[in-house]
Amino acid sequence: MTTINKITVLGSGVMGHGIAQVAATVGYNIVLRDIEQSFLDNAMKKIQWSLGKMVEKQKVSQSDADSIYGRITPVVDLKEALKGTDLLVEAVPEDMELKKKVYAEVDMYAEDKTVYASNTSTLPIGEMASLTSRPSRFIGLHFFNPPQLMPLVEVIPGHLTSSEMVNLSLDLIRNIGKEPVLCKKDVVGFIVNRIFIPLIHEAAYCLDRDKAEMTQIDSAVKFKMAFPMGIFELADYTGLDVVFKASKEMISRDKKVINPHPLIKRLYSEKKLGQKSGSGFYNYGSDNKYERVNLSEKEAEKYDPIAIVSVAANNAAWLLTNGVCDVGDLDKALRLGMGLKKPLFTIVEEFGLGKVLLTLENMSNKYGKFYEPDAYLRKIAS
Ligand SMILES: NC(=O)c1ccc[n+]([C@@H]2O[C@H](COP(=O)([O-])OP(=O)(O)OC[C@H]3O[C@@H](n4cnc5c(N)ncnc54)[C@H](O)[C@@H]3O)[C@@H](O)[C@H]2O)c1
Repeated sequence: MTTINKITVLGSGVMGHGIAQVAATVGYNIVLRDIEQSFLDNAMKKIQWSLGKMVEKQKVSQSDADSIYGRITPVVDLKEALKGTDLLVEAVPEDMELKKKVYAEVDMYAEDKTVYASNTSTLPIGEMASLTSRPSRFIGLHFFNPPQLMPLVEVIPGHLTSSEMVNLSLDLIRNIGKEPVLCKKDVVGFIVNRIFIPLIHEAAYCLDRDKAEMTQIDSAVKFKMAFPMGIFELADYTGLDVVFKASKEMISRDKKVINPHPLIKRLYSEKKLGQKSGSGFYNYGSDNKYERVNLSEKEAEKYDPIAIVSVAANNAAWLLTNGVCDVGDLDKALRLGMGLKKPLFTIVEEFGLGKVLLTLENMSNKYGKFYEPDAYLRKIAS
């Protein structure tokens, strides 16, 4: 039986430092490892800042915050970082070549008992696992940004991952106060990104095809589709570098998963990365403050987001047809990972399943196979 006491987080960037903080909060001893001391210093400052905010909001006491901080040890030396660790959580940049190099290095020092988990958003778990010395003890644990606040973690076994590892991971995620959703198959985009990323491209096509304004589309997505914000707004919030890289990886593995729109690549090349760079789909103020786009129900009335609803429904249907998740887990993942306020198929029913099917059939005739309706939609419509 594997028990987890000590966790090593590789990579102290956006995700790594947050995951370290979350796990330290419930008592795990954490080693946070990065390639340069200055990166670790920066990460520890961010953790301190975040804990300070929690003290301010009276979510933890100052002495608890100090203990949480004290349980995280920043280390540059990989051998030292891996000593005695039960679980390695890898959160290095999303680049398969880099990840391969990192796992080869980790394999040289990790003890036999260490379980490997990758926080990848898009890379195949099975492929990474099979490159390591322990494919059956390798799993995907996909946290969402920011890990301190986002409740969802997708748990993705590769084709060689043991059921013991799956159960261990589900327990661990619950232990750290998060909600796991089991992504039963190691498919491109897992559950949430399989729905979210293609929608950004689809919304960009809506700009061209329907000659609609961005705020009209976003208002319709927010007020008619029960999204927490508009789709362009959500993409800007996520970061268009994250969106572009995820799109690229997803398309490289499955050409049918996204109908790529050139605007995403263009914005990325122009370093318009969304909120964090001051502009993306929208322009933002220069004070680096989180800003919401002005969207309204009145604007929403000017646009019918049926193409966006239809693509979301079709990708969700694909997940169900292929046994990646059931409807309950799909709803949970979209609610907790994307902030959807209603179950997706309730939204589909509000628009009309018949209309969704017809839209997909028309679009597939006009724009190609990407839009071909999935068998699940036909089944529930009959
Ligand atoms: N940013 C997001 O929104 C998000 C959300 C979910 C999952 N992810 C995934 O999490 C992973 C990390 O993404 P991120 O956004 O935190 O990246 P990031 O670039 O912010 O951080 C990566 C960190 O890894 C460090 N690093 C590089 N090589 C290393 C090595 N050999 N050992 C240890 N550290 C090393 C870098 O110096 C950097 O500090 C990626 O796989 C990404 O797809 C990202």
